[in-house]
Amino acid sequence: MEIEIYDKFKKIIYDKAGINLGDKKQALVEARVSKRLRELQLPDLKAYLQFLKKDSSEAELVNLLDVISTNVTSFYRESVHFDFIGEQMKGWLRKGQRKFRFWSAACSSGEEPYTLAVTLLNCIENNNVDIRILATDISTQILQKAIDGVYPAEKTGAIPAEFIDKYFNRITINGEKYFQVQDKLKKLITFKRLNLSSPPFPMKGPMDCIFCRNVMIYFDNIVRKKLLSEVERLLKKGGYLFTGHAESLTGQLCALRSVKPSIYVK
Ligand SMILES: C[S@@+](CC[C@H](N)C(=O)[O-])C[C@H]1O[C@@H](n2cnc3c(N)ncnc32)[C@H](O)[C@@H]1O
Repeated sequence: MEIEIYDKFKKIIYDKAGINLGDKKQALVEARVSKRLRELQLPDLKAYLQFLKKDSSEAELVNLLDVISTNVTSFYRESVHFDFIGEQMKGWLRKGQRKFRFWSAACSSGEEPYTLAVTLLNCIENNNVDIRILATDISTQILQKAIDGVYPAEKTGAIPAEFIDKYFNRITINGEKYFQVQDKLKKLITFKRLNLSSPPFPMKGPMDCIFCRNVMIYFDNIVRKKLLSEVERLLKKGGYLFTGHAESLTGQLCALRSVKPSIYVK
């Protein structure tokens, strides 16, 4: 891919999603965008850039961001976070709290908010509580997968067997085994498209916990700072932010302090 063309893609992706591609992702961009070229039957990348420019609805931009973003995730990823939330939740319940608000800020295909839902339901026993989880992502395709909530059996190995039976249906599609999320988890979660690089966000808060994991690595300090000030606004006092283990926020937080690696409290 010619450098001028790559720079144009880089600028669009940064301006629209805050994703900083750096200088070495030409091959990745070319491979992923060529998928769109084939689907749109366009001859080359220049023609695709023209097409993007003319598309005032920004529908193709959404498709471009869909193919560019990296959606790797898994059930119980960084499981210490879920152990930690389970403990906090029990403490909050003991103190009489009955309303809980959580946000999975880059939820990908749903494994993160569904793991959270399982963790929370497992704490509440017979308590009459009001739990809501907001799960957002920039990619419409990946959000649809999250809403569908159907996962190949081999991707569910980290889910304890007792929870599989309690919260998933076993189904078969074309001879392959899948686990389908049951409604008791789904009804706790609202999935929405949200671009983390375009604050302010429409939510009011206050939130008990925010998961913003393995997404800030794609942003530069300018985007990250604006996002973190929204996180600080939305968290309640005593609420927690969870980041990916590889994402250190040292020096970037005003209202939050670190309690453990990748866990911060307001
Ligand atoms: C690597 S996945 C992380 C998923 C999950 N949080 C986890 O830790 O397993 C990163 C997700 O961030 C989303 N993403 C990238 N840029 C975004 C943006 N500007 N706004 C919202 N989501 C974004 C991607 O679509 C992708 O689903």
